[in-house]
Amino acid sequence: MPQITVIEHLLYHQKESPMATGRFTRLLSEMILSGKIINQEVNKAGLAEILGMTGETNVQGEKVRKLDEFANRVLVHRLQRAGVLCALASEENADLIPIPADCPQGDYILIFDPLDGSSNIDANVSIGTIFSIFRRVSPCGEPVSMADILQRGIQQVAAGYIIYGSSTMLVYTTGNGVHGFTLDPSIGEFLLSHPDIQIPERGKIYSANEGYRHYWDQPTCKALDYFKDPNNDSGRVYRSRYIGSLVADFHRNLLYGGIFLYPADSKDPNHPHGKLRLMCEANPLALIVEQAGGMATDGINRILDIQPDELHQRVPLVIGSKQDVLKVRELLQAG
Ligand code: AHG
Ligand code: MN
Ligand code: MN
Repeated sequence: MPQITVIEHLLYHQKESPMATGRFTRLLSEMILSGKIINQEVNKAGLAEILGMTGETNVQGEKVRKLDEFANRVLVHRLQRAGVLCALASEENADLIPIPADCPQGDYILIFDPLDGSSNIDANVSIGTIFSIFRRVSPCGEPVSMADILQRGIQQVAAGYIIYGSSTMLVYTTGNGVHGFTLDPSIGEFLLSHPDIQIPERGKIYSANEGYRHYWDQPTCKALDYFKDPNNDSGRVYRSRYIGSLVADFHRNLLYGGIFLYPADSKDPNHPHGKLRLMCEANPLALIVEQAGGMATDGINRILDIQPDELHQRVPLVIGSKQDVLKVRELLQAG
């Protein structure tokens, strides 16, 4: 395959679109550089005293790991100075991250999970950075409002993730299909390796943390039992694959076909809608999976249609091959 870089691919596909102003290219370039910097630390994490905990807890009430914090710092520093954003929001920060007064602003908004799959960092399991990009809705020059941030997922202008695994890959969409680029460490460039990714219509993999079955409602248990039943009406015997790293479980199912479920559970009364975040996890992956021909719901409703109420709201997530996600909706509606 010829060596096609991300920017070359973007410029080729965006030549007519309003995205080709160079400002989106600048934003994506800074995301790519941040990914390369984070990748360096992830790859030597065991050596660089960067494993383990910081001793702090984040806005989610979760213990922050040193690599989480490092990734967050890299992304905030680089993207604040990209000159194309009017606001940043991170899973790790309670509030919006302002653009420093001495930095030029733009009309893009970036919302991100700096390192997804944190619990796996010390065990050398694939983790990743997930990002979501909106354009502000209020006039440029005015202060950014929460109306600019709390937009429905269908308003995203782009979404993607960088997965730090057996290889380091960038997978993203600007609404023109989903394209995967693999980092060639010998030249330090992400090169096109997976053009126009399409998720199989139906998979043979289901991903869910069945350790929480006790905390699921009855319709959810019935939906999971469908995928465990070798005599289900799809004629397929499903395999269970669950890494505990959303970006890794999602990426495998995107390429092979399959369904990932993180249902609402009664385990934590503070989080009745499950653990995953709408703005920095469900929305970006929902845009990607729909662009790849798949589907993403909260079990019933399309993720991209959900009107957010607050920045860190959680949402149940059922995402992957369209026929499998439709089957879950059918089973949940049947009750
Ligand atoms: P994060 O590391 O950004 O907090 O996300 C972790 C999430 C997600 O990656 C994964 O699917 C899920 O946590 C696993 O949760 P359980 O351990 O409850 O299954
Ligand atoms: Mn996450
Ligand atoms: Mn995270």
